[in-house]
Amino acid sequence: MLNLMNLDQEKLPQHIAIIMDGNGRWAKKNGKARVFGHRNGVKSVREVTEGAAELGIKYLTLYAFSTENWNRPKAEVTALMQLLVTTISKETKTLSKNNIRLKAIGDLENLPGNCYSELQKAIDKTSHNTGMTLILALSYSARWEITTAVNKLLNDVKAGDFESSNVTEQDFSRYLCTSDFPDPELLIRTSGELRISNFLLWQLAYAELYFTEKLWPDFRKEDLRDAIINFQNRERRFGKTSEQLEENSSND
Ligand code: IPE
Ligand code: IPE
Ligand code: MG
Repeated sequence: MLNLMNLDQEKLPQHIAIIMDGNGRWAKKNGKARVFGHRNGVKSVREVTEGAAELGIKYLTLYAFSTENWNRPKAEVTALMQLLVTTISKETKTLSKNNIRLKAIGDLENLPGNCYSELQKAIDKTSHNTGMTLILALSYSARWEITTAVNKLLNDVKAGDFESSNVTEQDFSRYLCTSDFPDPELLIRTSGELRISNFLLWQLAYAELYFTEKLWPDFRKEDLRDAIINFQNRERRFGKTSEQLEENSSND
């Protein structure tokens, strides 16, 4: 059982996003091919999804494959897509058992046909679940998402479907793939890399960033808990001063 001492159930982030990185290095460390690392990464996906749902997190977004990842060696891309198909079809039942709803963001039409259809099937089958929403970022990059949003908006303007002559932040957000989800409050990246790698650039504007040296296949529920505890000890000021925040909380 996960030790939840030090974790404040009242201050949980609603939405956690994770850049699952380090599978290749994990495989190398174990003297194996990169694909072995990806396969072992699936166990971490299972653990963290289950852990987040148990804790009562409402949204979990996992960066599984970026637009830039299409440029990897063909054999690795094929293996990753195959792994995606088998994992999704194998895990759908468990997702439903845990009342988890599956969603995906990214240029999904670029995925191989069998991958796209397996994904859609799982999304449909879990669509009535009311617990956590698990969002897979697949063939995703933030710049792709933002330019796609601009083009959709332009089309709506041309078609006369966009009424105002002024675009607000709220208007623009509705054109992003994440329009149905709140922004993540916490971003976790494994494997010690200190970068965002084209992930949720708009949505992470005020997220707390948490970096850990752990490689993704070694990441477990306890590591998720530690990241959340670390998040809970931060002061989120949103441009204000510490004193203002203290004043507000004493007026509550
Ligand atoms: C993350 O692990 C998985 C994907 C990007 C698909 P990597 O494959 O990037 O592993 P490293 O960074 O090479 O160790
Ligand atoms: C980011 O990891 C993408 C995913 C985790 C899916 P990468 O390993 O592709 O990122 P870079 O290229 O090292 O920044
Ligand atoms: Mg990497």
